[in-house]
Amino acid sequence: MTPGPPSPIVAQMSGLPLLDLTTLSQNDVQKLFSEAERLSHEGPRDRQNSELRRGLTAALVFFEPSTRTKLSFETACARAGLAPIGLHGAGGTSLEKGESLEDTVFNVAAMSPAVMILRAPDEFDMRAVSAKLTMPVLNAGWGRRGHPTQALLDLFCLWREGRDLQAERLLICGDIRHSRVAASHLQLANILGVQVGVCGPGELLPETPPPGVHQFVSLSEGLEWATSIMALRVQLERHQGSFDLETFRKNWTLSAERLAGAPEFLRVLHPGPVNWGVELQEDVMRLKGCRILSQVEGGVWIRQGLIERALGVWS
Ligand code: CP
Repeated sequence: MTPGPPSPIVAQMSGLPLLDLTTLSQNDVQKLFSEAERLSHEGPRDRQNSELRRGLTAALVFFEPSTRTKLSFETACARAGLAPIGLHGAGGTSLEKGESLEDTVFNVAAMSPAVMILRAPDEFDMRAVSAKLTMPVLNAGWGRRGHPTQALLDLFCLWREGRDLQAERLLICGDIRHSRVAASHLQLANILGVQVGVCGPGELLPETPPPGVHQFVSLSEGLEWATSIMALRVQLERHQGSFDLETFRKNWTLSAERLAGAPEFLRVLHPGPVNWGVELQEDVMRLKGCRILSQVEGGVWIRQGLIERALGVWS
C-alpha cells in the first residue's frame, strides 16, 4: 500500500457511515425501519430525487462476489437519485496489474462519489480507509466480520409484518462460524432485544459461545424454541479442512418435511445465496412461512434508507 491518499480525500466527514451495527441505537434502527417502510410505499412518480441529486454518484466497490447486495444497492441508488458507478471484482481493473485494494478505493474516492459502498475481505482495513475518506462508507459485507445491511433487512422483513422483535427468538442454523451475517445478527440482537439461538455441527458453531446465545444440539430442539429460523450457507470456500456434507444433510438440512410440524408463526429466512440440497431443500420455498424473497425485496428499502441517512437526508 502507498503512504496514503492525496490531501483532497482527507477532510471532514459529512453524513453517516455504517461500518458495523455497534454505532446504532435502538431508536436509530426503529427510525431506519420506519423510513424504509415509508420508502416502500413511494411509487416512481413520487420520487423527486433525480433532479435533487443530479450529478451525484455512489461508488460500489466490491472486491468479493455479490448478486443481491450489489444489485440491491444499485437499485437503491437509482431510486435515491444517485448514479451508481461500480467496480466488481478484479477482472478488467488495475487490481490485475497489482494495484492494492486501498489504492483502488482512494482513486475511486478521488472521483468524488457522494457515498462509498464497499465489500471487502477481512484483511482490508475498512475502518482505517473510511477514516481517510470525506464521503461516508457503507459496509456491504466485510470478510467474516460483518454484513450490517443484511442483518437489518432480515429483521426489517419480520418487523414489517407487525412482529414484536423483543419477543422474537431467532434460530441461526448452519455455518455460523464463517458467517458475517451471523456476526451482524449478534450485534443487532443486542440492540433490539431479539433472542438468538444457534444450532449446527460443532465445527461450524462459534469457537467461543457468545454470551446470552442459546445453543441447541439438534434441529428439532432448536425448532421447539424458535419463532423464526435462518439457515446459513455452508461456506466451503472459508473452511480449512474437509467437511462431511452427508452428515450435515442428514442432521441440519431444512426441508418441508422437517418443518411440517412447525407452528404457523415460524418464519424461514436465508440471506442467500442458497446451496440447494445442503442447508435448504427447494420445497422450503413453497412454505407459507418462507420469507427468502421478501428479505431481498425489503433490502432495497433498507439500503435506500441508509444511503439517504449517509447523505444527511434524515438522521
Ligand atoms: N446475502 C448476500 O450478501 O448475497 P450476495 O453475496 O449475493 O450479495
